[in-house]
Amino acid sequence: MALPNAALTPPASEFLRDVLTGLACEPKTIAPKYFYDETGSALFDRICELPEYYPTRTERAILAAHAEKMATAIGPGVQVIEPGCGSCAKVRYLFDALDAPAGFVPVEISGEHMLHNLKPLRERYPGLPLHPLCADFTQPFALPEGCDATAPRLLFFPGSTLGNFTPEDARVLLTRLRHLVGDNGMLLLGVDLVKPVAVLEQAYNDRDGVTAAFNRNLLHRINNELGADFVVDRFRHRAVWNSRHQRIEMQLVAEQSQQVHVEQRTIRFAVGEPLITEYSYKYSDARVAALAAESGFKIRQRWTDNRDWFGIYLLDAC
Ligand code: AVI
Repeated sequence: MALPNAALTPPASEFLRDVLTGLACEPKTIAPKYFYDETGSALFDRICELPEYYPTRTERAILAAHAEKMATAIGPGVQVIEPGCGSCAKVRYLFDALDAPAGFVPVEISGEHMLHNLKPLRERYPGLPLHPLCADFTQPFALPEGCDATAPRLLFFPGSTLGNFTPEDARVLLTRLRHLVGDNGMLLLGVDLVKPVAVLEQAYNDRDGVTAAFNRNLLHRINNELGADFVVDRFRHRAVWNSRHQRIEMQLVAEQSQQVHVEQRTIRFAVGEPLITEYSYKYSDARVAALAAESGFKIRQRWTDNRDWFGIYLLDAC
């Protein structure tokens, strides 16, 4: 299948610009969206299967148990839009239950990865119109031509991806998505909920070191794609709970003072200095409700697991 809308991956110049800007910040920061090159996406798939990493299996179990009720609440004939669709695994629970969906718009920054993952979907739902869009959903985007313009729109945003945005960025993103779905639109949002710190920290510090490899792969990617010279072994993976901000903070900590070169720039790291690679915010009902209100949505319904570890919320545009 050809992608009619854009190049398969965003330009390297954008990556370079973001890396240089982030390394000039205090603390040094690189956006987590850059984790997901081919190796990073494969490592993330492995993370999702780890015994310590509960979010994926918990969310899947909620979808498996409640997809029929979700579909009834959503109603027939919706155009489903999934920003950052990744492997498109979770949306199958919905399509197995939805009544006559009008189509599916998967939105993914890595076009190759998305096209590969759409094959099984095409086989499973042969009559479902697919409109893949290769785009960075953190930037404004429009729906591809050919989408049913009259169908009510349902944004499917699972995986607690929203947790990787700061509260302000989450508000900006949801406000933009609210405009995209229109006045009769809906949002089905999966978010990871606040829980005991030990459970949270273990999920990001797995025994087999897969999360550490995922984190460090970001430096390999910068070396490979931007010609930088990070000595990756000199950076240690660290993931800690910040109770004030209700988030896991993932970092790469310089084990010794060192210099790194990216393009013509020299970046200095002091010993123990962190490079922030990801925030993973954990939510409460109150925070979801507040964020919804700030971005033009209202919670209609909520489904969770028996430990209340993960929540899937159906929100209406208002
Ligand atoms: C994609 N995102 C919701 C994951 C999370 O839990 O914040 C990314 C991740 N980082 C480390 N493990 C998983």
